[in-house]
Amino acid sequence: MATASSKTYIVEHLDPELGTWSELEYLAIARESQEAGAKFCLSSLPETFKVPEALSSIPSFTAETRGVEDLYASDKSRVCLLDPAAAKDLAPEDGEKFDAFLFGGILGDDPPRDRTSELRKKGFEGRRLGPIQMTTDTAVRVTRLVVQGKTPLNEIPYLDHPELKFNKHESTQMPFRYVKGQDGKPIMPEFCENVPGKDMDIMEEVPPPLEINPPLLNAACPWATTLDDLRRLYACPWTGAVTTRTSLIHGFDHDPAKHQYTFFDAGQTGLAPNASINSFGYSPLALESYLGFIKTISDEQSARSSKGFIVSVTGDPEDIERCYKLIATAAQDMKFPLAMEINLSCPNIPNRQPPAYSQDLLSAYLFSLQRAIATGGVNLTRIPVGLKTPPYTHATEYQTLIAALEQAAANTSSGGVCPLSFITATNTLGMCLVVADDGDLLSSPAGPGFGGVAGAPLHPLALGNVAMLRRLLDSNAAKLGHIRVVGVGGVLDEEGFRRMMRAGAHAVAVATGLGLKGVGIFEEIGRGTERRQSQI
Ligand SMILES: Cc1cc2nc3c(=O)[nH]c(=O)nc-3n(C[C@H](O)[C@H](O)[C@H](O)COP(=O)(O)O)c2cc1C
Repeated sequence: MATASSKTYIVEHLDPELGTWSELEYLAIARESQEAGAKFCLSSLPETFKVPEALSSIPSFTAETRGVEDLYASDKSRVCLLDPAAAKDLAPEDGEKFDAFLFGGILGDDPPRDRTSELRKKGFEGRRLGPIQMTTDTAVRVTRLVVQGKTPLNEIPYLDHPELKFNKHESTQMPFRYVKGQDGKPIMPEFCENVPGKDMDIMEEVPPPLEINPPLLNAACPWATTLDDLRRLYACPWTGAVTTRTSLIHGFDHDPAKHQYTFFDAGQTGLAPNASINSFGYSPLALESYLGFIKTISDEQSARSSKGFIVSVTGDPEDIERCYKLIATAAQDMKFPLAMEINLSCPNIPNRQPPAYSQDLLSAYLFSLQRAIATGGVNLTRIPVGLKTPPYTHATEYQTLIAALEQAAANTSSGGVCPLSFITATNTLGMCLVVADDGDLLSSPAGPGFGGVAGAPLHPLALGNVAMLRRLLDSNAAKLGHIRVVGVGGVLDEEGFRRMMRAGAHAVAVATGLGLKGVGIFEEIGRGTERRQSQI
């Protein structure tokens, strides 16, 4: 039979790097495990992973490159997988049944590997910890209280989404469940209790604005993938900025057999194509490649310029924290400005709701962003950050977004402002099906023919999104009024551009039109605008 002292808490960490936040959480787990006579192990560590000294000096801690399948090869039944999809809740008697408690998480690799579901398939028995998302250290703490402390899960005192005060003026709402400490406060890593007020002061300022002049650019798309694509777009005198295709920290596993796009004629009248459907995920190239391309283009410029790059990224909230730091650091060395666009709206990722439809997920991303800005310190000049949103089709979906933005604004201090500089609306409309007489138009992870539609059929919805967002942002001007809207969706000519500007866009971005007409579409729109202005 297992004894309390032989308990091991295992966190699978597949990422070669360690964010500041994770390090603090791991330190908290190691210290508490030490005090409870238990062990704490990080497993599946990449060979290149550097264990921080503060962690390796704690005797309860061990670092393992092997996965839990190898560590417990001879007795898998002694390992309990903490799994939100498990049939049973964790109970005190599980302390007798299991020696090791495994936290799979969604870590490393891109697309992020859902280790919990991998481990579930490998036959590790699962237990649930309840419906509300916890930080990793909280999940381990709760598990320890149940299996070592013999407290039933529903008798643990919790604090959900607590408000954390930094000082008299500043507070933040944490988007997680915590254990309530004896002092009535949430138990969390030391850093949270010691966030220096000076760092958080940065957050009280209105974030830097996104400047795009002329107000025309490309949206994130496959025609902005390579160095040559980006050079061509940057050299085009009719655009005021360039957006990169969305990248992840480690690149996306692009499979041409299932990630595809095609153009079609939305009216199905045999006219030229004016729409697109795609089942793409993200760029196969990693963020680092894009920062390298942008640096090359910067070095090729003879003078400083206000025309910059919007670097589109995605990943989980921790990745976004790292992306921000990487891009903001790279920006210090460029001849033009950089901004970051967080793509929370790709409709083609299996088993993943686009995060911008969920208030909890939006809040987790915004919270990571605030942490990135706060912990970046005063030497890291702040860059504009935006969200790429999906097409919203109902008032409640807008409310979800606005509530998350207002919560982020309230986080800084009362009277604070949302840390975002812009919103790019919209991404493609997912789960569409376009069929041709001779079969499906494309292959897709969602099934033959399914994908996200853009171009002409998206245009009215995109105009509606831009106009509604502008109205809602302006109706809470103090907190959200500074957020600019980049309008995207079905702009194929100068008239579409004009409609988008009239709807309230600060600038207009084009994807399908770029795929159909090439970089020349920007000259067409620019010259059309000049002609119209000269007639006034
Ligand atoms: C083939 C294709 C790939 C795309 N890839 C991305 C992407 O990587 N990241 C992103 O934010 N949007 C992506 N989009 C969405 C576009 O940026 C844009 O939001 C959408 O297509 C609507 O604009 P449009 O009507 O001008 O195409 C993609 C669109 C297409 C057609």
